[in-house]
Amino acid sequence: MPDTKESPEFIEACRLADVPAGGSLKVDLFGTAIAVVRTAEGVFAIRDACSHADVLLSEGEVEGCTIECWLHGSQFDLRTGAPLSLPAVVAVPVYAVRLIGEGDDTVVEVASTPTVVSPTDSSATSQAATEEL
Ligand code: FES
Repeated sequence: MPDTKESPEFIEACRLADVPAGGSLKVDLFGTAIAVVRTAEGVFAIRDACSHADVLLSEGEVEGCTIECWLHGSQFDLRTGAPLSLPAVVAVPVYAVRLIGEGDDTVVEVASTPTVVSPTDSSATSQAATEEL
C-alpha cells in the first residue's frame, strides 16, 4: 500500500537576510504569491492574499506571531493562518518553513504543499522555522 503521508517537497524561497526582521517579503513560488515573514518567534510562510478580499498580506503589519491586513484590519495567526479578528472569517493557507545554512548564507525553504486549518481548530501546530533571529 502506498505511503500517503509523504514529507512535503521544500523549495528555496529567498535568503533569510532578504526578509526584514519584524517584516515580510513577497515571493512567488509554484505560481503562488507567498509572504515569508520573520518574527522573534521564527520564520513563517503564508499565502500572500487576505481571505476577505484580494489584498497582499505582505503589505501589512507584523506583530508577534500575527500579520494584519492593511485594508480592513483582520489579523491572521502566522502559525495556523486562522483569522483572529473580523471581518475575515476564513483561514489563509500556511506553509511549513525550514532554514538551511548559517549566518548570512541562510536560505529559507518553503513547503510546496500548504496547510489549511479551520479557524476553530486548536490542534494546529506551529509552522515556524527558528534560529537565532
Ligand atoms: S481585505 Fe483583508 S480584512 Fe478586508
